[in-house]
Amino acid sequence: MSLATVFPQAADIPPQFAHKGEITQREYLLNGELVQWQGELSPVVSPVYLREGVNLQQVVLGHTPLLDADTALKALDSAVKAYDLGRGAWPTMAVLERIQHVEKFLGLMQLQRDEVIRLLMWEIGKTYPDAAKEFDRTCDYIRDTIEALKQQDRDASHFIIEQGSLGKIRRVPVGVALCMGPFNYPLNETFTTLIPALIMGNTVIFKPAKYGVLLIQPLLQAFLHSFPAGVINIIYGRGRETVGVLMESGKIDLFAFIGTNKGASDLKRMHPKPHRLRAVLGLDAKNPAIILPDADMSRTVKECLAGSLSFNGQRCTALKILFVQQSRAAELVDKLSSAISELKAGMPWQQGVAITPLPEPGKTQFLTELLKDALSKGAKLQNPGGGETTASLFTPALLYPVNSSMRLYNEEQFGPLVPVVSYNDINEVIDYVVNSNFGQQLSIFGQDAQQVGELVDIFANQVGRININSQCQRGPDSFPFNGRKDSAEGTLSVVDALRQFSTPTLVAAKYQDSDVDFVKQMVKERHSRFLSTDFLF
Ligand code: G3H
Repeated sequence: MSLATVFPQAADIPPQFAHKGEITQREYLLNGELVQWQGELSPVVSPVYLREGVNLQQVVLGHTPLLDADTALKALDSAVKAYDLGRGAWPTMAVLERIQHVEKFLGLMQLQRDEVIRLLMWEIGKTYPDAAKEFDRTCDYIRDTIEALKQQDRDASHFIIEQGSLGKIRRVPVGVALCMGPFNYPLNETFTTLIPALIMGNTVIFKPAKYGVLLIQPLLQAFLHSFPAGVINIIYGRGRETVGVLMESGKIDLFAFIGTNKGASDLKRMHPKPHRLRAVLGLDAKNPAIILPDADMSRTVKECLAGSLSFNGQRCTALKILFVQQSRAAELVDKLSSAISELKAGMPWQQGVAITPLPEPGKTQFLTELLKDALSKGAKLQNPGGGETTASLFTPALLYPVNSSMRLYNEEQFGPLVPVVSYNDINEVIDYVVNSNFGQQLSIFGQDAQQVGELVDIFANQVGRININSQCQRGPDSFPFNGRKDSAEGTLSVVDALRQFSTPTLVAAKYQDSDVDFVKQMVKERHSRFLSTDFLF
């Protein structure tokens, strides 16, 4: 069957998932208003093509505003004004009131579930179950964030007495935040920084991801009706025009960015006072699986398959290189090849599909180059039909033996290529991890408690998370999510994110009768919200 026939004819698409015609979005959120942009628009195309006879036609989903630098600066002014050097209504608002705004947003957001999921499928080719999971997981994240903030506030309600000092510590906002998310989780990963930034009292400029941009449109009204003017501003357009000027202004205090380390460094460098910029970054990764001689192979294959190829390998946490001890290499490759052959290519709304069109223009060419480079240096394609491509579809390719001369050994593919390297001595793998520029996660597959335990100790100082007999992943969201070296800056989890987007402030006095009485008076007569001992029920 030719790969082109995987693309549908218009009549094949179930009505509930059909593309309802082009969405022309002119509005953007500025200072509490949905402003209509009269300038140039940027086309939004789907990775899905429609088959018409022998031709494939890429679906145009709509258009979004291509804002200019001046408009981006207006959004900045609006956020700066709402923050008002920490004296604005939002940064000084009682925690419970801010929570109520976020709860309102969550309620309105949930009304848009079907449309956001539909757009996730059309814009980035995410399957229906994964798109639904992304939406629901994001709502859960918001609920958990609210609970975590309540707990944080409860813990801060009391005073502490230490070495003759009386103190009270609360976490307060940092300033104006710029939040930018990635195309592979354009809702979830963006909101895991956006929501903590907002709820902690920062004001925000949010620029949606490059792909997965239209799906924010159904949420614009929810943002508009849930937050005071200027607290959240949503901008669109080319990064180099809009984001560059924001950084150059020196008025961004918090930079939340999920993307490449090069992109993050370029933007950070533009800030005139880098010491005043707090960055929360999720960056590149090349997570290895390490398959030991005694690994349970059926379990290893299952985890490596999902780890390398769910959402076509377009997860920062994907397993991007598999190291297998030479004695088990043939078995791994054979079983993984069979498992890959079972994966069904199709459209995001089709049941049971695993391989879907890729949203990044030029991605199939990039993957083909990596594949050719590996083949030219001695790797063999291990699964029949691997690496075939038509338009935005690319069938997964399992490559073995891969070695250090090939690009795939160190470069992040972020796509459906599965390189397998065999090793004789575990020190070869340890050297790879220790010398890698990346340090997000890794997976160890083995059954010898002593060997796995020793490897855990070796790798604990190298990566942010070690997974035992399981694939790499971000969740559960209560666990810390971070990375070392070029893979991340800062730690995210429901609780950690609240810390990243806030800073502790301490009020202290001498622990002596007169001063204690004075503090007591302020508390009793409710002269200070900061000093309040109210307990958030
Ligand atoms: O792309 C990076 C995501 O944070 C990974 O999340 O492991 O849940 O797919 P995940």
